[in-house]
Amino acid sequence: MDGSGMDGSGMTDRTGLFDLTGRSALVTGAAGGIGSAVAGALARAGAAVLVTDVDGAAAAAVAGKLSASGLTADSAALDVRDRAAADSAVSRAAALADGRLHILVNNAGVTAPAMFDKLEEESFRRLVDIHVMGAFHCTQAALPFLPTDGTGRVINVTSSAGLTGTLGQVNYSAAKAGIIGLTKSLARELARKRILVNALAPLAATPMTETIRTDPKFAERMLARIPLGRWAEPEEVAGAFVFFASDAASFVTGQVLPVDGGMVM
Ligand SMILES: NC(=O)c1ccc[n+]([C@@H]2O[C@H](COP(=O)([O-])OP(=O)(O)OC[C@H]3O[C@@H](n4cnc5c(N)ncnc54)[C@H](O)[C@@H]3O)[C@@H](O)[C@H]2O)c1
Repeated sequence: MDGSGMDGSGMTDRTGLFDLTGRSALVTGAAGGIGSAVAGALARAGAAVLVTDVDGAAAAAVAGKLSASGLTADSAALDVRDRAAADSAVSRAAALADGRLHILVNNAGVTAPAMFDKLEEESFRRLVDIHVMGAFHCTQAALPFLPTDGTGRVINVTSSAGLTGTLGQVNYSAAKAGIIGLTKSLARELARKRILVNALAPLAATPMTETIRTDPKFAERMLARIPLGRWAEPEEVAGAFVFFASDAASFVTGQVLPVDGGMVM
């Protein structure tokens, strides 16, 4: 298999399209929410997964659960703003497979809502630092380890906020729109190395969305914007990450896929 999903006869091997056996993955911000669901889904698809988070103990707990259920996982403390820590985490992830890192998921993120007239410069810089610079550091650290045989993947996490804007989230929207630009330019640059770069704009019930799901001021208005009329559990959005990581996505690059119950069309 060469990352195209085709076997030697020119026929598509449909059974193996989503099989990640023999590949390694590094997921940032994977101690909870969407990141831990993605780490689990990639591991169940056969990948050896390095679970990383700024909260190293929580990342270790997630990796411990995966290992206990017979999957291949390890963990590392990684603040995505720290380039040296990113370099060391990438080496650890590559050591889980054949010395290469096949799949990088730039998932770590935070929000800090404030209306623009009250938005502080420090908060704006912090969000750009975590989202955009975090993806920059981790991807640049990963680049020498990403295979050039069609199996190398960078999967970024953006948001509907980066696509359509959100009230009270200029900092977050700017950072998430930055990730979209990074995704598209990098997809063009890395295409010659057969490395695919895509992004997802998910929507899921996680600690990040707790206020908007539970505060009566927001909850009903938000649900009304989701055509499927409900929130997804993180596990429900994780399958789209497996798709982008797998041979099934061998001809897809530079795309932003909303996985949000139809909110952004
Ligand atoms: N939940 C949603 O509906 C939704 C919608 C759109 C986009 N997103 C994006 O999805 C991603 C995951 O969000 P979530 O909802 O699971 O949030 P979450 O708050 O549940 O998880 C985020 C994780 O990132 C970690 N983190 C924070 N700062 C970090 C740093 N500097 N370095 C490394 N790790 C760090 C946190 O410790 C946490 O484990 C984020 O990029 C978020 O912006 C989420």
